[in-house]
Amino acid sequence: MHTAALLAGLLAAATSSVVMGAQLTKVDYPNNATSKVAMWVYVPDKVVANPPLVVVIHSCQSTAETYSRNAKIPWKGGSDKKGYITIWPSSPHSGTCWDVSSKASLKRGGGGDSQAISNMILYGIDKYKADPTKVFVTGGSSGAMMSNVLAATYPDLISAVSLYSGVAAGCFVSSSGGVDAWNNSCSGGSSRATAEAWGTVARNMYPGYDGPRPRMQIWHGSADSTIAPQNYQEEIKQWTNVFGVSSTTPTSSLKNYPERNYQTDNYGDHVQGIYATGVGHSVPSNLTASEAWFGI
Ligand SMILES: *[C@@H]1O[C@H](CO)[C@@H](O)[C@H](O)[C@H]1NC(C)=O
Ligand SMILES: *[C@@H]1O[C@H](CO)[C@@H](O)[C@H](O)[C@H]1NC(C)=O
Ligand SMILES: *[C@@H]1O[C@H](CO)[C@@H](O)[C@H](O)[C@H]1NC(C)=O
Repeated sequence: MHTAALLAGLLAAATSSVVMGAQLTKVDYPNNATSKVAMWVYVPDKVVANPPLVVVIHSCQSTAETYSRNAKIPWKGGSDKKGYITIWPSSPHSGTCWDVSSKASLKRGGGGDSQAISNMILYGIDKYKADPTKVFVTGGSSGAMMSNVLAATYPDLISAVSLYSGVAAGCFVSSSGGVDAWNNSCSGGSSRATAEAWGTVARNMYPGYDGPRPRMQIWHGSADSTIAPQNYQEEIKQWTNVFGVSSTTPTSSLKNYPERNYQTDNYGDHVQGIYATGVGHSVPSNLTASEAWFGI
């Protein structure tokens, strides 16, 4: 009797401590997009006042849950350390790539995945009293492609982006309007255009907009055999054109930074490229460098 009561007490204590610890949670959010992207949120035990929001976008064949447990994806730990909130969208498509190919997603208000994620940002600001001037987006591979698409479609909602191994916004477009379609020309590095042409592709996703846009930090590996390294050049062309700076002459460069065989090139204050020689797909997230870019 005594032992049983003790055991029951211990069990209750153990259970409640598990329940009370912060965990990734699926939440309902007001979503007027056709695309039903699932929203998961990680609210750390200690949240700073008016916390920053970081949207972390998974790669193909992943989900919000598996991505958040991936040892190479350090954002949950960053959230615990610094008290910001992370939002983890989860793709509704088979194979779980993001729709970065159809008009629905490549246009503001088009009803696609990008609009659904924009709704998560608005809900996150409201629900967690997040600082609307501190909304950040990061992602790897397909999530990096979506990061570029979000920067083009919802520039007014995002302060800065740090993306790993993606392609320029619009590069994966499907000529037949396919949702979530693969594009071999783009992935293989054959979709090349002038800076002006790429800039126009991005601008046309939110025509007439001339307000502030997110600062872009773009990572890519030279040995990427999934998303050809040429896509790094195309992304740099796109965003330097949008910000009206040279795409060919960095304003400053650092060799072997942030680590050996990586090179950091700044194109003014709004575009930073980090090219990792010898690194394949996808470049591992560097929490310190991405947080520094975000200013958190
Ligand atoms: C969808 O919701 C967003 C955010 O509230 C709003 O700006 C937009 O106008 C809405 N679109 C439609 C078609 O209702
Ligand atoms: C692939 O994307 C390019 C732009 O990057 C586009 O011109 C082409 O039509 C797309 N291919 C298909 C099969 O949709
Ligand atoms: C990440 O970047 C920081 C600079 O922001 C650098 O000091 C650090 O060595 C990098 N970490 C890794 C694992 O490369």
